[in-house]
Amino acid sequence: MNAETQVWLRDVTKTYSMGEVQVHALQGMGLKVQQGEFVVIVGPSGSGKTTTLNLIGGLDSPTSGELIVNNVDIAAYDEKNLTIYRRDTIGFIFQFFNLLPTLTACENIEFALELVESNGNKVHQQAFDLLEKVNMGERADHFPSQLSGGEQQRVAIARALAKDPIILLADEPTGNLDFRMGQKVLRVMQDLNRQEGRTVILVTHNTAIGKMGDRVVHLHDGKIACIDVNQQQLEAEDIEW
Ligand SMILES: Nc1ncnc2c1ncn2[C@@H]1O[C@H](COP(=O)(O)OP(=O)(O)O)[C@@H](O)[C@H]1O
Ligand SMILES: [Mg+2]
Repeated sequence: MNAETQVWLRDVTKTYSMGEVQVHALQGMGLKVQQGEFVVIVGPSGSGKTTTLNLIGGLDSPTSGELIVNNVDIAAYDEKNLTIYRRDTIGFIFQFFNLLPTLTACENIEFALELVESNGNKVHQQAFDLLEKVNMGERADHFPSQLSGGEQQRVAIARALAKDPIILLADEPTGNLDFRMGQKVLRVMQDLNRQEGRTVILVTHNTAIGKMGDRVVHLHDGKIACIDVNQQQLEAEDIEW
């Protein structure tokens, strides 16, 4: 494995001000993620998982600290640079899939591709190829409402791949799925990590999923409580909840 540090949170804090109340979502987080690593961040609701992922994904900026990705501190980026960073580096996968309901599976991905490149002819084929990659080619013409939750999530993963991101961030990707559907989604993520070398950072409240990571980071009250190294990663099919 390439042991280069890809994501480095250095003493990162995030405080949300709600009128007079300050919510300390992250309180001095330090974490290094290596290129090609599969890291699972586990913690109870409110422990700061989504905040962590949104900061790494450039959807939000830290209150203090450094957030170094590929040797650049993205905490110092302005909105324009953050937009480019999100587009070129990050693929996001959300709990509720967030597919556009009036577009078919294939069109959802074409839409994402067209945001990146306007070479119209190739877009349809590329979108279809991405669906094949997540074993959803046969359902290309189906609308989200015609797909199960697990199938929608696989389409959402294909969409996240539109930009060929080196880092995949997944926020409770199985949170809305039973474990059989969830296993298939996790299988796709495990393959994208192992076969294509994409770095995966997955956050979940579900400790069982931690066993498929190279490392498990336990979050508590906006801080890292401990980090476990899995000597052997569990296969996606062996995870149940
Ligand atoms: N936009 C926001 N405004 C105010 N407080 C927030 C916001 N986002 C998150 N928080 C608070 O920050 C803490 C961490 O939230 P979050 O990162 O969403 O946790 P998790 O994803 O682990 O459930 C919680 O106390 C939450 O209420
Ligand atoms: Mg969350």
